[in-house]
Amino acid sequence: MRLLLNDVAPGVAEPGDTLGPDDLDRLYAYPDATGRPWVRANMVATLDGAAAGNDGRTGSINTDADLVVYTLLRDLADVVLVGAGTARTEGYRRIPARSARYRERAAAEGRPTCPVTAVVSGAAQVPPLLAADEPGHGDALLVTCAGAGTEALDRARRVLGPDRVIVVGGDTVDLPAAVAALHARGLSRILCEGGPRLLRDVAAADALDELCLTVVPLLAAGVQQRVTAGAGVDRRLVPRLVVEQDGTLLHRWTRP
Ligand SMILES: NC(=O)c1ccc[n+]([C@@H]2O[C@H](COP(=O)([O-])OP(=O)(O)OC[C@H]3O[C@@H](n4cnc5c(N)ncnc54)[C@H](OP(=O)(O)O)[C@@H]3O)[C@@H](O)[C@H]2O)c1
Repeated sequence: MRLLLNDVAPGVAEPGDTLGPDDLDRLYAYPDATGRPWVRANMVATLDGAAAGNDGRTGSINTDADLVVYTLLRDLADVVLVGAGTARTEGYRRIPARSARYRERAAAEGRPTCPVTAVVSGAAQVPPLLAADEPGHGDALLVTCAGAGTEALDRARRVLGPDRVIVVGGDTVDLPAAVAALHARGLSRILCEGGPRLLRDVAAADALDELCLTVVPLLAAGVQQRVTAGAGVDRRLVPRLVVEQDGTLLHRWTRP
């Protein structure tokens, strides 16, 4: 990978440098936001803005470089926050243990050895593949709201266990409250993997600290959504890091 812009960790590498795993580790480190959570989203888009390939999945637009950073961001996170639509479409399962280096680091820091998956569903629907406990994999939480109704909430509590159902908000999920609830459980490094509706809502609630955006060298046309979907928002971000490999551009954008 080749560094094009580095405004996150001066001294780690200069524009034009080739990056190795240690450089990427430092360039993507969560900021020292001691005492407060940090919400980072990671999304991939084609050159013409499609958030999925024409089969409706992201696997058909991913590249090797995107996969490297996707894996690294999971290794660095405490919890993956994902919308129920994405969990269903992409077949989300519980997350396996981090690679050895990150597992040891997490253990030394008292963080979970496997990232937790937190699914956001206003209807309190637990995606089937996340329901079952998988030995050696991370925990699963449901983030929902009172509007789901008693019956659906009870069903979710039976499936996951009462401690794993977080109810925040009335008619819709209160996302800043969800972030606070995850932080209260020691899950402060939050990685939002979308989808477009959830990312839009996180941004609208002013709960987004950072967007990691991969742009792949592909035109897809078609009818797929952009990386955000829903009512308009107005959130400005500034570029902090740009890395390139084989035409794939990997960015970090943060609050001004
Ligand atoms: N390009 C990328 O990086 C990327 C990333 C992820 C997904 N995708 C693509 O995006 C598509 C899926 O899109 P999607 O719109 O279904 O995404 P989504 O945001 O993952 O899912 C929407 C569903 O999640 C729940 N949800 C999300 N935000 C909520 C909120 N604020 N409050 C309450 N519930 C909330 C609701 O579930 P309930 O209906 O259960 O209430 C809603 O119906 C797929 O094609 C997938 O491949 C792309």
